[in-house]
Order: sequence, then structure tokens, then C-alpha cells
Amino acid sequence: MSHNFIIAETHLDHIESHGYAIIEHAIDEQLMTELIADCYRINPHLSLAGIGRLNNQQIDSSIRKDKTYWFDGSSQAQLSYLAVMQSIKTTLNRCFFLGLFDYECHYAKYTLGDFYKKHVDAFKGRSNRVFTSVLYLNSPEQGGELVIYKPKSKDIAVSIKPTAGTLVLFESERFVHEVLPAVDERYSITGWFRKNASISGIIDPPR
Ligand code: OGA
Ligand code: MN
Repeated sequence: MSHNFIIAETHLDHIESHGYAIIEHAIDEQLMTELIADCYRINPHLSLAGIGRLNNQQIDSSIRKDKTYWFDGSSQAQLSYLAVMQSIKTTLNRCFFLGLFDYECHYAKYTLGDFYKKHVDAFKGRSNRVFTSVLYLNSPEQGGELVIYKPKSKDIAVSIKPTAGTLVLFESERFVHEVLPAVDERYSITGWFRKNASISGIIDPPR
């Protein structure tokens, strides 16, 4: 199956004008089914998520309480999803001249009471994260909303109820956001399109 993913013009316009887009039914049913099955297979291997990158990963459950598993390419579902993200990366580069070169992502699971407090995904000059992607794998009835704040403001730009197949894209450095406490189990894939850069001459490796 081919995974050429075309972002509709309206979504590209919204990214240009607002810095984010919410794309419903972004991923076809077949791949959604495979990803959910893969996520259940991975379930026993999910572990408490860290904050920071590389050796600076710290577990701080006052900030986030979800469990994650970084893609390791161990299933066709993961490879197919990565192919879709490659295709999105190409589109973003063509439209916005971003020079994105890499993509990393993990499964995330939130259960009752799990949250991720207000944060930004990128710190200037550190992680090289340019665009964040979140794909929801299920549709919890209650809780777990993603709240994105307006840049440099305490006002809410948008509050998103996780829905299976919905893909959210936003500029990583620009938006403070949070995941409100989950009520029902919530499964997603969060990822980052990254730009090449080096710190002290060392190319920043993934994770
Ligand atoms: C993250 C994050 C949002 C979501 O993992 O950094 O902000 O809706 N996730 O899961
Ligand atoms: Mn985030």
C-alpha cells in the first residue's frame, strides 16, 4: 500500500496563518487498525515518560504521568506510519522551506488521572524540534483534552478532544500546551519533525 499523504490546502493555509492544523480522518482505516494492534502489542513495554532529551531524561510525575514507547521500527505498522510522516515532512518543507530532516515519535498511553502539564516541546537551540505531530489512536469519551494556548498568552487557542484518526500538527517552539487529566484510557502517537543542527560540533542524535 502506498502512503502518499497529501495535506489539504485548507490545512496548509491554517498552518501558515495560525501555526497549527487539526486534520480529521488523517490516516486510513487499515493503517489505524494496524497501529492500534501494534500499540496493544507494545502495551507491556510502555514505561514512564521522561522530560528532556538524551542523558537529561528525568522522570517527574508532577509534570507528566503518561507512559511511552519510542518507535523502533519493529512492525509494519510503525514503518507505514513513518512513511506517512516522511511524506508530510516533504510537504512541510516544500510549503514552508523548513529544512526538516528527521522525524522521531513514540506511542503514549494515559490512564485515569494521567496528565501532561503546560509545556513547550522545544527549547531554542536544544532539541531542534520544529513541528509536533499528535495522532489519536482512540476516542476517549471523557478527559484527556489537548489544550493549546495562544502564543505569548494565557488564552486558549484551541481545545482538542482526542478522536481516533485525528492528526494535530503545531509549531513546537511556539505553543505552550497541556494534556488535561485522562478519565478513559487514551492512546496516541506523538512525534517531532526535526531540523539538523549541531551543538558543540556534535550532531544532535534522535531522542
Ligand atoms: C507531548 C504532548 C499531546 C497529546 O507528548 O509532548 O504534548 O495530545 N502530547 O498527547
Ligand atoms: Mn508536548
